[in-house]
Amino acid sequence: MSTPLGKGWLDTVLEGSIVGSFTRLGPSIRRHSQGWKPLERLDGKTVVVTGATSGLGAAGIRTLAELGAYVVGIGRNQKALDDLGEFLGKRGETWRFDLADLRDTHAFAKRLGDLNRLDVVLSNAGALLNTFSVSPQNVEVTLAVHLLSPYVLATTLAKRLTAEHARFIFMTSGGMYTQPFSLRKLEAIPDHYKGSVAYARVKRGQVVLTGALQHREPSDGATFYAVHPGWTATPGVSESLPLFNTLTRPLLRTPKQGVDGALWLASHEPTPEGGGLWLDREERPVYRGKKTVSENPLLDQTELLSWLDERLSRALA
Ligand SMILES: NC(=O)c1ccc[n+]([C@@H]2O[C@H](COP(=O)([O-])OP(=O)(O)OC[C@H]3O[C@@H](n4cnc5c(N)ncnc54)[C@H](OP(=O)(O)O)[C@@H]3O)[C@@H](O)[C@H]2O)c1
Repeated sequence: MSTPLGKGWLDTVLEGSIVGSFTRLGPSIRRHSQGWKPLERLDGKTVVVTGATSGLGAAGIRTLAELGAYVVGIGRNQKALDDLGEFLGKRGETWRFDLADLRDTHAFAKRLGDLNRLDVVLSNAGALLNTFSVSPQNVEVTLAVHLLSPYVLATTLAKRLTAEHARFIFMTSGGMYTQPFSLRKLEAIPDHYKGSVAYARVKRGQVVLTGALQHREPSDGATFYAVHPGWTATPGVSESLPLFNTLTRPLLRTPKQGVDGALWLASHEPTPEGGGLWLDREERPVYRGKKTVSENPLLDQTELLSWLDERLSRALA
């Protein structure tokens, strides 16, 4: 039997090294040094997972079903949705829609609100796009998929996420540590487009949005979290970052290791404090370099909410 060694110093060393924290070393060591307990059961609860057809979401939704939750998996790939539906049987259902399409997202969010109950949303869908593209509403796709659509889901479902344990979880990325928050740069433009930069900026935006939704008055009832999965071997990584994937492959986490932190936030009782950024079952700092530190994080949060409302109404006009 493993004995917790006192998580403080070892966790700090791992986190400081980045590679020790983000790769498979992180969860392998923390599991023992912190005495991780099995994830708690979710019998009778309903959990929605976006991006359920591949990588982290596919591993996550299967585990959630095994923990007893009724799950709703969202994706675009029909074959993967069919396979997932077959695996789930009566334990869940699958929905096909494109989160880049803000009108579709609105319509589906309303339908999700008609589910018998709703306890957790894991807003996991995402992609690092190496080519500039726009949504049917003429919004840059990285922004639409990672920020505008999750914001539509969070606000439309707010009234349904009122149970004491209700949670809304954003799957962000450690890549966001490379970028400061900037409203002006949140929507990428075609000139000098760089997918990794556009991606890191909206992933930083997800962390700011998490705090904004958590502290918004009147409170929505749900607890909001941002969580990042470290570096995980998924189809998304091998497609968008082939060189990184080749160089780091032996050290990458398995999807199950990458998604564990999100599932822990979805299931842990008592409800962990909301509004922050998590990795491997611990809350983490939101900045790693002086250049990315915000002078006024609370102002960022209120400005982001107003900006999202304005950008959405413009897109849907
Ligand atoms: N893997 C990592 O190391 C890593 C690191 C940091 C953050 N993340 C984040 O983790 C999340 C999952 O990534 P992954 O690595 O598991 O990637 P993945 O294997 O490519 O899976 C991405 C999922 O998102 C869905 N998706 C993408 N665009 C969509 C859209 N427009 N509408 C609906 N669904 C859409 C995909 O659905 P379809 O295939 O059905 O279209 C797929 O199910 C992402 O948010 C990613 O940014 C991953």
